[in-house]
Amino acid sequence: MDRRQFLIRAGGMALYPAWETTARAQRSNSEPSVVEAALESRETWVTLAGRPAQLYTYNGQLPGPRIEARAGDTLRISFRNSLSEMTNLHYHGLHVSPGGNADNSFLEVPSGELLIYELPIPRTHPSGMFWYHPHMHGSVARQVSRGLAGVILIRGEFDDQPDVRNTPEFLMVLQDFDIASDGLVNEPNVSEKARGREGPLVTVNGETNPRLPLVRNGWTRLRLLNASPSRFYRLRLEGHPFVIVGVDGGLVEAPFEAEELLLVPGQRLDVFVRGDSPFGNFRLLNLPYDRIGAMGGGMTGSTFGLKTAEPDVVATFEYTDAPPALWAMPNRLAPIERLSSPGIRRTFRFGMGMGMAGGGFTINGRLFDPKRMDTRVELGSIEDWDLVNRSGMDHPFHIHTNAFQIVSGNGEVEPAWRDVVLVPAGRSVRIRLRFSDYSGRAMYHCHILDHEDLGMMGIVEMAP
Ligand code: C2O
Ligand code: CU
Repeated sequence: MDRRQFLIRAGGMALYPAWETTARAQRSNSEPSVVEAALESRETWVTLAGRPAQLYTYNGQLPGPRIEARAGDTLRISFRNSLSEMTNLHYHGLHVSPGGNADNSFLEVPSGELLIYELPIPRTHPSGMFWYHPHMHGSVARQVSRGLAGVILIRGEFDDQPDVRNTPEFLMVLQDFDIASDGLVNEPNVSEKARGREGPLVTVNGETNPRLPLVRNGWTRLRLLNASPSRFYRLRLEGHPFVIVGVDGGLVEAPFEAEELLLVPGQRLDVFVRGDSPFGNFRLLNLPYDRIGAMGGGMTGSTFGLKTAEPDVVATFEYTDAPPALWAMPNRLAPIERLSSPGIRRTFRFGMGMGMAGGGFTINGRLFDPKRMDTRVELGSIEDWDLVNRSGMDHPFHIHTNAFQIVSGNGEVEPAWRDVVLVPAGRSVRIRLRFSDYSGRAMYHCHILDHEDLGMMGIVEMAP
């Protein structure tokens, strides 16, 4: 593989030629500025696993160009829709306004038209990995499964530390594709949509099983994004545990080690790998995970979405020699405020009413309706939401605008901010949210994008 296609930092510069059009060199602490980016969605022939495939891209690139900014900047994105269908952009995980021309998922950009999105990023915004993708209700899974996704990095103090800054960093955007022999994307049937479409071709930044360098006697930083419509990734790197420093859009309070990473659709992870093995090659494996549970058996006729015992190889890491740089990972990364227990509690039930047209994927028994307010909350308030999944399949829950904390069984909150949480089949998860800064209407939904398109989405209105 061509290593230049990955982000390689040298001398403090963020170089990512494949994404160069809107990327800019990493800036250290400096005055907030306007970050301009031009994005164009269009149909493009690309080479995928050595074969031509007709996908949807931003600026002809798979994944789309990376956008970098810092807290306090304003993102100004001139978005042209050159697809032959309606689309739009959502800025997943950013704590910005959900209204006007900001992260407003109700906006629609007709074919051939231009829309200027403008997103002032608060000065207090956490640094982390965010992303943009279409949010055109009814077409999200189809458009994302054709490739539409791109990374937004917000850099901050952690990235500025010399040790971190000098650590090679690779963005890994995980996407899966289902391409027919004519190079066109296969459209799933009704039951494949009900499960959530998956494609057999797993790619990292548009490549199958890329080779990546792993620094010997040093650290390598991997920033993973699951931009697949439905596929879960359960990742293990042979011979190397992961040191997790960030989840979704921010750092965790203290780094922790894990042998495996579970990355559900929409989620991001920021991990460091310690290169303390002898030279060699180590595979990043995607292990089996059954997200359909009992329903898998009920939906026979294909092994679609079900894994065999043989793990997929996502990427292969190969040691490179470099001057020793196994600096000590700090044991405190970022102070995380623990949201205190609120007086307001609500329940959200995922439902799959098979009698309804299109499968009937609901939250609290209702299909998404853009004109209906489902949940009104007071601006500035803290609430606990119980996410209850009595359906036979896993649903990853996502909410726009505000991140949340997971409340464990004993009432403790996880010292981390997330914007996607897995609610496994037959289980419940409690999250604690604070609706700060922005009033307006925002969406929450299952991030299995077919489920979202089939109605598993609601609207929260935040008002003073
Ligand atoms: Cu990543 Cu509402 O979505
Ligand atoms: Cu779902």
